Amino acid sequence: MRTVLIVGNWKMNKTASEAVAFVRELKDRLPAPSSTVELVVAPPFTALESVRTVLGPSSPIQLGAQNMFWEESGAYTGEVSAPMLKDLGCRYVILGHSERRTLFAEQSNSIQKKIRAALRHELRPILCIGESLAQRDNGSTDEVLTQQLRESLSGFTGEAMTGITVAYEPIWAIGTGKSATTEQAVAAHRTIRRVLASTASPAIADCMRILYGGSVTPQNIESLLTSDQIDGALIGGACLHVDSFATIAKAASAARPIGV
Ligand code: 13P
Repeated sequence: MRTVLIVGNWKMNKTASEAVAFVRELKDRLPAPSSTVELVVAPPFTALESVRTVLGPSSPIQLGAQNMFWEESGAYTGEVSAPMLKDLGCRYVILGHSERRTLFAEQSNSIQKKIRAALRHELRPILCIGESLAQRDNGSTDEVLTQQLRESLSGFTGEAMTGITVAYEPIWAIGTGKSATTEQAVAAHRTIRRVLASTASPAIADCMRILYGGSVTPQNIESLLTSDQIDGALIGGACLHVDSFATIAKAASAARPIGV
């Protein structure tokens, strides 16, 4: 059974003090903790410590980071490492987001190194992949997803793969208000699971969670989660408001009361 995962990617939003106020309110508004839904917030690095403090040690909301470097320490100005994130209480780390790929020139070989480093330090990587509008329009979505997965995951053992979550985030849907339809997302998720099965095994692919991201809102989350191919969501804009994030979390609990 795959537990649904709802992740709020705050991107470069909220100062540490804004984050504290936000998480205090969010804590009061979330549904009762559920064994079928995991909730994660991924604030900027600068707010991790204060968010962790507000959440407290036994919070049902887990902490994630938005990026990291693959080395453990050293002369890498401006970077943070897996042990640093782990020390701050992070359980997840988002890697290979399309904004990192396009704005910061991240490529699959460095994403692969980051995934390896995250797993070494017991952080759970969320690997983001997705096609551009031009790639979708010229019919190469499946090819692009396959290539991104193969390049980022080559050489991993089946056991390592089970620690990885994949997030399908079509670039044309990110921040545009134009989500993929449930059918489009399901088709992409099927492709992803097929590639995971051929990279590892069908049994491993079956254990791995595949999230959808791109203009997820309280309005479309229910439809997305009607498919058991969609194991949760990676949320940008809608996670920055207590109301919408709490509504999405509640919809996820309602959609999967007993898991899939
Ligand atoms: P939006 O939900 O704002 O489209 O962002 C999606 C995203 O990039 C999450 O990582």
